[in-house]
Formats: sequence, structure tokens, C-alpha cells
Amino acid sequence: VTLSAAPETIAARTAADATRPLLASGDRATRIADLLELRAATYAECHAQIDTDAGDVDRHARAALAIWERDPIAVAAGRNSYAVDVGVAIASPRLGELARGATAALLISDENVAPLHRRSLDVGFASAGVSPSVVVLEPGEQRKTLSSVERLWQACLAARLDRKSVVVALGGGVITDLAGFCAASWMRGIRWLGLPTTLLAMVDASVGGKTGFDLGEAKNAVGAFWQPAGVACDVAYLNTEPARGYVSALAEVIKSALIGDAELLGVLEARSDAVLARDPELLTEIVRRSVAVKARIVSRDERESGLRAVLNLGHTVGHALEAQGAFGVLSHGEAISLGLCAALRIGARLGYTPPALAARIEQLLDRFGLPVDLGAQPLAEAAARLDLDKKRTGGALRFVLVRDVADVTYIDLPVAELVNHVRALTN
Ligand SMILES: NC(=O)c1ccc[n+]([C@@H]2O[C@H](COP(=O)([O-])OP(=O)(O)OC[C@H]3O[C@@H](n4cnc5c(N)ncnc54)[C@H](O)[C@@H]3O)[C@@H](O)[C@H]2O)c1
Ligand SMILES: [Zn+2]
Repeated sequence: VTLSAAPETIAARTAADATRPLLASGDRATRIADLLELRAATYAECHAQIDTDAGDVDRHARAALAIWERDPIAVAAGRNSYAVDVGVAIASPRLGELARGATAALLISDENVAPLHRRSLDVGFASAGVSPSVVVLEPGEQRKTLSSVERLWQACLAARLDRKSVVVALGGGVITDLAGFCAASWMRGIRWLGLPTTLLAMVDASVGGKTGFDLGEAKNAVGAFWQPAGVACDVAYLNTEPARGYVSALAEVIKSALIGDAELLGVLEARSDAVLARDPELLTEIVRRSVAVKARIVSRDERESGLRAVLNLGHTVGHALEAQGAFGVLSHGEAISLGLCAALRIGARLGYTPPALAARIEQLLDRFGLPVDLGAQPLAEAAARLDLDKKRTGGALRFVLVRDVADVTYIDLPVAELVNHVRALTN
């Protein structure tokens, strides 16, 4: 928790303290302002900030305690750091805090989500003291286009959003990607809040600051890194998520467990029925743990240099299979389920992955109703697709391998070799 105060307040508080060599020379308040500026990126990397200019120690201590009880996950990104909260019925209260002081707000949602959940935010907007303009887009990936973005910009204009206004995204990954991009580009970047309503948007799209839209067949071709000011994953919204999307996202949850949380894997295995029944307490734990894995990795690698590569576990073959069906046969998560099976089996062939672990994960995916039968997939065509990528990647692909639960690594695998491995998966 960062305790903040104005330079003058800090100067007054430290006035009697002679043991501050950094404040020894020059005007104290100016010196403090310089140091605060110098350290701003570091101080911003916290779970929350408490302004201590007004009020007493007791009040600030209680505020810190409340943050501890809320238990947010910090996504460290220098000055662009933010927190992800996870819980039941938390969207509205968090919105109330995060939107306070905004000059205007634009709530962006879609035609499926808005009728179900838009009203849940009324109290939050009221307590923030802003009355939002609302844009409701047609749902679906086909609408993740420039023309939707233009509609959002027009809405920003009509609502007179300025640099102190806020965009609020209420929806799945399509809405969060579009709304985040709208916020990134409006007036060269304004604040936005993520209120994800699908499991995928909670565990994946809410962390990492990737925003954007599709350009025809080219998914996510145009976009920007633009971190939200805050994210609230309200698992109560997941009650109404269609089953196929919910189950598909469980593949990404299992991926996160494999990358960095052995306990999460244990919970998924021990309580698979409750997972499928969307038990809210359990969902809180699952979303929190998944977000924490991604936050840990992204925090150290904001712009995707090396470390972020591990998040691609299961995605090399998964993407090829997804694209092979022209993004219509398999959902992304279903493709990733198969991609995980492939990565584990290839890992076993290469001597990295214990075969028993590969079998264990297949069993769990299968229990959730996700596809695991690689033999039933067009592997030869998918392999050819990987081969096509060869020119782009210079002959080698970064392939993520699992040595054990929460112990992953990556190797640069020649595409030709990978293609052979994928072909061999049939038998
Ligand atoms: N930015 C990132 O890092 C990131 C990460 C992963 C995925 N994504 C993007 O996310 C998108 C997929 O996200 P998605 O799976 O959430 O799809 P989606 O946003 O299309 O939502 C799926 C469907 O469920 C409906 N829906 C959403 N929440 C609902 C709820 N609570 N109740 C009832 N219906 C609801 C939506 O209207 C939609 O029809 C893709 O475009 C992908 O590129 C982005
Ligand atoms: Zn994915």
C-alpha cells in the first residue's frame, strides 16, 4: 500500500527529523517533489494508494486494513500499475470508488450483457457521482471491427468525454478489447475500467493491457497496450455466461495452473463438479489464482519480450487447429485444450514432460467436457499451417514445454521438427 501525501505535507511531517540526508540541501518541499517524481513509477507498483493529506493515522490504518481484506491482485506496470479485484457482487462498489471524480463516463456493453447486468452498476455510478452515457454494441467477434470502434469514438464525442473522464467496459473479451482500445485512442488515452463478464475475459483479457480489434481475418491486428485503471472480476456475472464459453475458458485456467499454480490444479481436480456448477466461492478462488499467475508474469514483462512467452503454452498447435477450422469449428478454448494435450505429448516425446502428467491433464480437460482427442483433428493440415508460418518466424518457433506443474520452460524448436512431432501425434 502506497501512502501518498503532498510535498508540503511531507515537508511538515519531516521538519523535525534531522536524519534525512536526501532532504538536507535546498528547499525541502521542492526536494521532496523531485524525489516523488523520480520514484513515482516505483511507488505506483502497489495494491492500492491511500491519500494521507487529510485524516489521522487511525483512519489510514483502517483504510489499509480494508484493502488487505479485499485482497486485490497487483499488476505492476510502473506508473500504469493497477489492481484486479475478484469477488461476488463487487463490480458496483469498486466502480463507485474508481469512477469517483470523473467528469463523464461512457459505459460500453453488448446486447446480451447489457439487459442482464447493466442495472447492477446503477448504485456504483450513483455513488461515484457520474451518470454514464451508454453504448450497447451487437455481440460477437464479427463486431470486433473498426466500425465498432468508430461508433465508440462517436459516443465519446457525444458524451463530451475529456481527459478526466472514464470508459467502463462491461462484457466479455470482445467488449473489453474494444472499450480498452477506445480509451487508449480517445484524446491520446484516458482512464478505463474493466468489468469482465466472461470467465475468459476475467482470467485472460483483464490482465496485460492488450486492447484492439480485428482487421478482416487478421485477429487483433490493430491495437495498443493500454492498462486499465482498475479491474473488478465480479464472479456473480458468470452465472449467466453461456456454457460453451465458460467451459472453453477452463482450458486457459488449466493452462495457468500448469504455468504457475500447483494448488490451483489440485482444486480443479478435487472440485470439478463445483467448478462446473459455478460455485461462487470456488470461482472467486479460481479466478483470483489464474489472474495472479498471469499478473506475476506480465508484471515482469509488460511488453512481451521473453518471459511472457510461457503464456503461449498450448497456443502453438492450438492456434493452428483453431485457424484450420477458419475460427468457426473449435472455440479458442477448445483449440487450446487440444493444444495443451499436444504440448504435453510433444514434451513427453522430447523428454521434458512426465507422461503421467500429460495423462493427468487430459483427464481433467476431458472431465470438463473439453476436447482431447488429437487423433480426431486435422493434424496434417494444422502441421502444414505451422510450416507456412516458417518464413515469418525464421525457421524456428518458441515452443513452451512443461517439466512439471508450475515448472515450464521454452525452447526454440525448428519448425520442420515441430511439424514432424505434430504429424506423429495422430498415433
Ligand atoms: N486482451 C487480451 O489480452 C485478450 C485475452 C484473451 C482473449 N481476448 C479476446 O477476447 C475475445 C473473446 O472473449 P469472450 O470469450 O469473452 O467472448 P465475447 O466477448 O464474444 O463473449 C462471448 C458471448 O457471451 C456473451 N456474454 C458475455 N458475458 C455474458 C454474461 N455474463 N451473460 C450472458 N452472456 C454473456 C457475449 O455477448 C457474447 O455473445 C476475443 O476477441 C479475444 O481476442 C483478449
Ligand atoms: Zn488463449
